[in-house]
Amino acid sequence: MPPSVTSAKDSAPGQATFRFRCIGCGSVNATAAQDFRCSDCGNLLEITDSSWNSRNPTALKTLWRERRILNEAIDLSGVWRFREFLPAPQSEQEIVTLREGNTPLYDLPQSSRVTGVPRLYAKHQGLNPTGSFKDAGMTVAATFARQAGYRWVACASTGNTSASMAAYAARGGMRSLVLVPEGKISWSKLSHALDYGALTCQLRTDFDGCLRLLQELVRQAPVYQLNSINPFRLEGQKTLAFELLEQLDWEPPDHIIVPGGNLGNSSAIGKALLEMRDVGLIPRLPKLSVIQAEGANALVRTVRETQGKRLVSMQPETRATAIRIGNPASWEKAVKVLQATGGACEQVSELEIAQAKAEIGAEGIGCEPASAVTLAGLKKLLQQGFVKPQETVVLVLTGSLLKDPDYTMEFHRGDLFKGTPLEQESAKLSSFRHPPVVLDATLDAVIKTLELAEKSDPARSNE
Ligand code: F0G
Repeated sequence: MPPSVTSAKDSAPGQATFRFRCIGCGSVNATAAQDFRCSDCGNLLEITDSSWNSRNPTALKTLWRERRILNEAIDLSGVWRFREFLPAPQSEQEIVTLREGNTPLYDLPQSSRVTGVPRLYAKHQGLNPTGSFKDAGMTVAATFARQAGYRWVACASTGNTSASMAAYAARGGMRSLVLVPEGKISWSKLSHALDYGALTCQLRTDFDGCLRLLQELVRQAPVYQLNSINPFRLEGQKTLAFELLEQLDWEPPDHIIVPGGNLGNSSAIGKALLEMRDVGLIPRLPKLSVIQAEGANALVRTVRETQGKRLVSMQPETRATAIRIGNPASWEKAVKVLQATGGACEQVSELEIAQAKAEIGAEGIGCEPASAVTLAGLKKLLQQGFVKPQETVVLVLTGSLLKDPDYTMEFHRGDLFKGTPLEQESAKLSSFRHPPVVLDATLDAVIKTLELAEKSDPARSNE
């Protein structure tokens, strides 16, 4: 039998001791089964720790700030720097880290102008070691996988989880098994997994099919699952919110807007906000809103059609392949977070995503398509009056521009919607496109092209 996953019984003094709590029936246990589901009711687990509530918020803020100038790996990690709110491993030497977190909070001057929201920011999780927000969760979950003595870790993925897992497994001396839908993830993400030495299986199914298979696999084989069903992942992903609030000098924004796929990230951020509020780190909760692609809108439909009581799963289709998910595992956690923070759930079209991605690119930041749903969603929430222009808004950009170069190239060349029902309508995005120009290698040709560019877009070059 494989080793079971236990909470840290021998924590050092002052470190947290944690338990697994079922989000359905509320039962609390010191251990979790390999599928990370409640043995009584089958629902998902979350990690709790009573010591989190007894912290002094002022002392914590000082401690976290002081750690920023230290050189120990555990302090250089933007995740473990907030370890007072993480499950504690048996020793600091166990920690598998690539110095994740520490991601910038950018202002977005052009998008501010377009949307009329002066206090608009992007928390860019694409600047993590493997280029996505997954690294923040992976450092924690990989640490506990190694501590439990697993040789193999595994995940189903639309690409980013697999890239991140493969990297952390490699760093932690473990082997990794990747299950991805064949032909439906970007080559950039797949190439990460290959380079980090994962055993990569492209399955003839979609993400939901891969995840179903993985859950069966972990019940039969000594393989540790690293999908966001694994509650250690969500603990690490919580730190995005801690770091964000620190960057805002602990003044909560009015809104945080995040893309929704399998719904682990929104659940993690929401959990962090509630914990920060409960311990007095922040005086009030931001509204956390989740945005999905119209073609992969299971949460939107769940909220609209069943008031969040029953999952409406669906056959997903979107070019934002990271969130091409129709049966999100953490839907119940996400519904609770929407309700607790008063956030909205909205969907955006493929054209809206493409335009928003180009707009974020024009800020000199860039992101992958799934991340761009946040800006597209903000525009809708402004139209509906849910977000007011004078409010402070943070968009969570989940993945780097380099994660899906095919999408970007096709967009700028004008091929993204070729042969699809959106082809004609997509012409309205032509002003956002910057296709490459092929020229003879002469000075004359380059100067003429420069002059043409200046004439066709004088406003831009006068900025
Ligand atoms: N943005 C990006 C770039 C993602 O890769 C994902 C999920 C999401 C948003 C949605 O986050 O699932 O927590 O709601 N990617 C997973 C993967 C599913 O396998 O890489 P979520």
